[in-house]
Amino acid sequence: MRVESVRGMRDILPEEAWVWQAVEEMLRQVFALYGYEEIRLPVVERAELFSRGVGETTEVVHKEMYVFPDRKGLELALRPEATASVVRAYLEHGLYAKGGVTKLYYLGPMFRYEKPQMGRQRQFHQYGVEALGSLDPALDAEVMALAWHLMEALELRGEHLLFRVNSIGCREDRPKYREALRSYFAPHAAGLCPDCQRRLEENPLRILDCKEPACRELAGAAPRATDHLCPGCKEHFGQVLSFLDALGLVYVEDPTLVRGLDYYTRTVFELASRELGAQDALLGGGRYDDLAELLGGAPTPGVGFAGGMERLILVLTGQGVGAQERPLLDVYVVPIGGEAKRPAVELLTRLRKAGLAADMDYVGRSLRKMMEIAGKRARYALILGPDELVRDQATVKNLATGESQTFSLAEVPERLRGLAERSC
Ligand code: HAM
Repeated sequence: MRVESVRGMRDILPEEAWVWQAVEEMLRQVFALYGYEEIRLPVVERAELFSRGVGETTEVVHKEMYVFPDRKGLELALRPEATASVVRAYLEHGLYAKGGVTKLYYLGPMFRYEKPQMGRQRQFHQYGVEALGSLDPALDAEVMALAWHLMEALELRGEHLLFRVNSIGCREDRPKYREALRSYFAPHAAGLCPDCQRRLEENPLRILDCKEPACRELAGAAPRATDHLCPGCKEHFGQVLSFLDALGLVYVEDPTLVRGLDYYTRTVFELASRELGAQDALLGGGRYDDLAELLGGAPTPGVGFAGGMERLILVLTGQGVGAQERPLLDVYVVPIGGEAKRPAVELLTRLRKAGLAADMDYVGRSLRKMMEIAGKRARYALILGPDELVRDQATVKNLATGESQTFSLAEVPERLRGLAERSC
């Protein structure tokens, strides 16, 4: 029996991978505009990083994390997200020593044992940013502006996108808010799903992001976090909103938005796309001013977001972005007959050294078939037939216009480069 891939973990084949590359390049450019530098993190971390950082009672840690012992019995996890890892690395390498705000971005695979469906995989990829070292509400707004900038740079159509924003307060506010939620939900406990009945005791905030219709309906009229903010958090949230207004970002305040990870404090936000259906969160983030302490470091405020690459690409392709032709080879070399093979091989090397993407057939196809492949894969066909070889020449055929020209073998790379540059 053939070995197949694991459910929820898919291959990204070449016809899709080039779109990923183009999107990643654009993301990197925009991250750089805001002063972010890349951090590359391990995929495997100690499981404790997430149970302490993300929270034992969250779905992500409680139900979805891939946990396994290594050969010495150390409990490891495939990372379900990267914020905890970024903060770990920030503390471990003393990145705070430089002072000011440390701005880091990452791209890479994350793992959650969820039920796979459109826009939800078990191995998925995130792009994300984390800005560490400042409590300034202008930074919260800047992070959201960056997220919006990404969508604009990728030409995602704005009318389908909506920012939801909320403040869930600080650790002093949280117990009061939890109590308010408990008192509100307790009389309706029987109407909650079994998970939420458990959450009512453990962490009633999590009821607010339950997807069950009955729980959602009850959550709609639940007490609002913003009514339980201390003066400092109220002031912070007010300022975040006024900076968002100043930046011209369109958002709605959503009192039910709490996000599924425990480290959040104050600002939380999501950018949703109506085109994604049930899994509509294109990206999400917020502030996590206590996370560094939870991980054993000195208090360090932070704010950031992460988005799912698969979801982003789903929306982009749905809107026809990226439907343009996959990048072509510059030239496909077509040797006719055994005599032409050696000059073709030599020419290929010279073409590549001249910076031209070039390839040829290695499975003995007929001339007709080679020209067919050239037509699909390349902009020019370089034909080396007996007539050409006698004269030390090659025929270059423009596969878009059908025009042909003959060049001496010696000057082919230079001439082709000229043609390729002119037609770019
Ligand atoms: P999150 O909301 O859990 O936040 O994930 C961020 C984004 O990752 C989601 O909005 C979604 O686009 C994508 N995503 C999550 N799970 C899946 C999945 N199973 N399949 C496909 N895409 C998925 C975080 O991970 C936080 N670390 C974000 C953050 C950064 N907060 C502050 N800084």
